[in-house]
Amino acid sequence: MCGIAGYIGKKQAAPIILDGLAKLEYRGYDSAGIAVFDGEKIHMEKAVGRLRVLDELTRHGASMPGFCGIGHTRWATHGCPSDTNAHPHMNRENTIAVVHNGIIENYDVLKARLEKKGYQFVSETDTEVLAHMLTEYYRGNPAEAIEKVMHRVEGSYALGIMFLDHPHHIYAARKDSPLIVGVSDTGKFIASDVPAILQYTRTVYYMENEEIVCLSNEHTRFYNIDGEPIEKEPVTVDWDIHAAEKGGYEHFMLKEIHEQPKAIRDTISPRIKENDIDLGELNLTDEEIKRLRKISIVACGSAYHTGVTGKYVIEDLARIPVETDLASEYRYRNPIYAPDSLVIIVSQSGETADSLAALRDAKAHGSKVLSIVNVVGSSIARESDAVLYTWAGPEISVATTKAYSCQLAVFYMLAMKFARIRGSITAEHFQTLLEALRRLPDQVEGLLSQKEKIQYFANHYLATEHIFFMGRGIDYAISLEGSLKLKEISYIHSEAYAAGELKHGTISLMEKGTLVVALATQDALYPKTVSNIVEVKTRGAFVMALTTLRHKDMEKCADYVLYIPETESPFMGSLAIIPLQLFAYYVALGRGLDVDKPRNLAKSVTVE
Ligand code: M6R
Repeated sequence: MCGIAGYIGKKQAAPIILDGLAKLEYRGYDSAGIAVFDGEKIHMEKAVGRLRVLDELTRHGASMPGFCGIGHTRWATHGCPSDTNAHPHMNRENTIAVVHNGIIENYDVLKARLEKKGYQFVSETDTEVLAHMLTEYYRGNPAEAIEKVMHRVEGSYALGIMFLDHPHHIYAARKDSPLIVGVSDTGKFIASDVPAILQYTRTVYYMENEEIVCLSNEHTRFYNIDGEPIEKEPVTVDWDIHAAEKGGYEHFMLKEIHEQPKAIRDTISPRIKENDIDLGELNLTDEEIKRLRKISIVACGSAYHTGVTGKYVIEDLARIPVETDLASEYRYRNPIYAPDSLVIIVSQSGETADSLAALRDAKAHGSKVLSIVNVVGSSIARESDAVLYTWAGPEISVATTKAYSCQLAVFYMLAMKFARIRGSITAEHFQTLLEALRRLPDQVEGLLSQKEKIQYFANHYLATEHIFFMGRGIDYAISLEGSLKLKEISYIHSEAYAAGELKHGTISLMEKGTLVVALATQDALYPKTVSNIVEVKTRGAFVMALTTLRHKDMEKCADYVLYIPETESPFMGSLAIIPLQLFAYYVALGRGLDVDKPRNLAKSVTVE
């Protein structure tokens, strides 16, 4: 959600900043802007729409010469997408330029106060108060002015700031919104995320809350909010540069779908040791695991959906009660934190505002927090008591696929480990599951090779207005994700139902031709789901069923059947989701939509 890129160094800044912003496009935005010190003044250009508009306007930065600048892609919160509301924002004298990710929650109070003092606002944004406040507090020392502003604003921010008085410096600061600093021989960078700078450097500093940095050709200086210098250690990022490129695929989403076998393998293999699962990162003793009385899984969107599967799998194998909550609900519902309980936060980005707030609430109540996160060094990872990383690599497409699959794999390992330690499954059962887990990446690979069949089916449903997904147990959890995937990128209305729940209301929507995608991969629930399929078919629905090869009889009741290979029932979701991801992808593709950057969505939702 919004992206920041900034550069100071020996090269022309604007092209580097525009390239950096392009690498952050996946975060979601509706306008873009850039400010460069051109030797005399701060030259600014902004444009609503895609980054290519700004790119053309500035001839890929050629019209903005200079060695120091900041840029931004904006996802509108306060004020509609427009050139005026786009960042950077400047003070009236054009001596201070600011880019901002996050929300200034007390901006209305601050704005009223500034207006009384005669400051005139040109945009509808919360960010503009920062430009005027910096002007108000600036007495020649930029860091001091920034500290004063930070002490007075409430909310979240990652900031990139330039002062005309200090033309060869970039300042940056953060609170609850991600920001990194990169350093190389030829320059220094600020960015919202690693892909923006990966082609220039792998040496990165992760900024912590309420820290300020001042970058110049000569130095990289960090301060706390009280102006005290702080020492920070750089981290070497080991991401493969090609991981953030499309690599010949038409879209990042398709590439990431195909990366799933590797991503799952990378996530499970290092943790399978001598026929056991080693989750040393858990930071829990066997005694603590045995004492666990409750687990709360808290997340948003697809990460929440993996938590729904996690509940089924952990309760089934480890016999620990699990509740799965949406972070946006959990954080405000005054949850009960019992002793011997564990909170698990799931997040690809590690920056989702609601999930981070839930984490902090849990910690403030003394609860132990384990997170399942994809981005190393992200806020959720840093603030958790323990982290189980998903090794999916950078995920660029807004619609998550490979990170989702890795989160499922982590839940399987957790459930198995807990089950083994608590003695709720036998050693033989554990070994059977372990073998099945090892086979999963190859099975996913096999499913991907059948993608034409799904494309063929998807092409028949490009004009559909409503699609329903249904299933029971884990199939219901996977239906939730299949439905979200479809709606977020194809804009087709879709809902997911626990199959047994349909007749309590939603079945009234079934009519001739309504497409129902029915999941029936759980042997124990198979006859029940078949009954539900018959019920919707009786009302005219067209049913596409997803089941395993042992259930060939499905062809007698469904209109179209897709088969997935057999695995242990707790792991079925990892196979069932593959055709659903491909279905969503091909429907969106067939409708000519921007698959990787669906409208209104952001990859990393850093505001509530
Ligand atoms: O980064 P997170 O995993 O915390 O993100 C949570 C959701 O915003 C995310 O899963 C979202 O639902 C995706 N767009 C789904 O594809």
